[in-house]
Amino acid sequence: MCTITTDTSVGDLVVANPGRTRIFEQLGIDYCCGGGKSLESACEEAGLDPKTVVTMLNAVESAPADQTATDWSKQPLALLVQHIVDTHHDFLRRELPRLERLVTKVNSRHGHHFGFLPELERVFLELKDDLAEHMQTEEEELFPLIEQLESNGEEAPAGLLEQLEEEHASAGDALATMRDLTNDYTPPVGACNSFRGMIHGLSELEADMHQHVHKENNILFKRARARVLA
Ligand SMILES: [Fe+2]
Ligand SMILES: [Fe+2]
Repeated sequence: MCTITTDTSVGDLVVANPGRTRIFEQLGIDYCCGGGKSLESACEEAGLDPKTVVTMLNAVESAPADQTATDWSKQPLALLVQHIVDTHHDFLRRELPRLERLVTKVNSRHGHHFGFLPELERVFLELKDDLAEHMQTEEEELFPLIEQLESNGEEAPAGLLEQLEEEHASAGDALATMRDLTNDYTPPVGACNSFRGMIHGLSELEADMHQHVHKENNILFKRARARVLA
């Protein structure tokens, strides 16, 4: 368990204890794409007092640990890759088409009344297409290379890792825009069940994407670059 100091990176704090993501989600601190930043600068950006945040993080330390959580910083990279595909890519392949149906239906029925819906649909559809292409690049190009890196000692594909990290940052921007447009995923008064289902589904998409990008940026890609193999 790494000690909580304000110069530790947010990403490392989450690698050491994934339970800390709850606090970061609650406070709006970006631990996936912004995981390389120190706790101090992340707090500064979010307008928070670092000492208060450290106190909140320490409260997580004293809570009972989740014994079932896997420490991905110590597992073979091939297992982590498999976990990402089976858990997070599978989630996106199931959820994105369902959410597309909901977002387009809600916009067609209520877009005239709630002015943010056409923009929400545009941002969502662009994100959906970008993520489909992104996952394909990971599964067909990057992940096989990472598996070879582990078995044959190949070099980490630096350019490809950088490109994928940039795509993570764009996806993070799209998610932040959708959060703003929906007033932090709050259904408006009088919203129908489809509207509520859409808002709930989009908030789950954001939460899963944060975990997904954290595991890639702060664990998988970082270990591949540093050649820290299990
Ligand atoms: Fe991925
Ligand atoms: Fe990714």
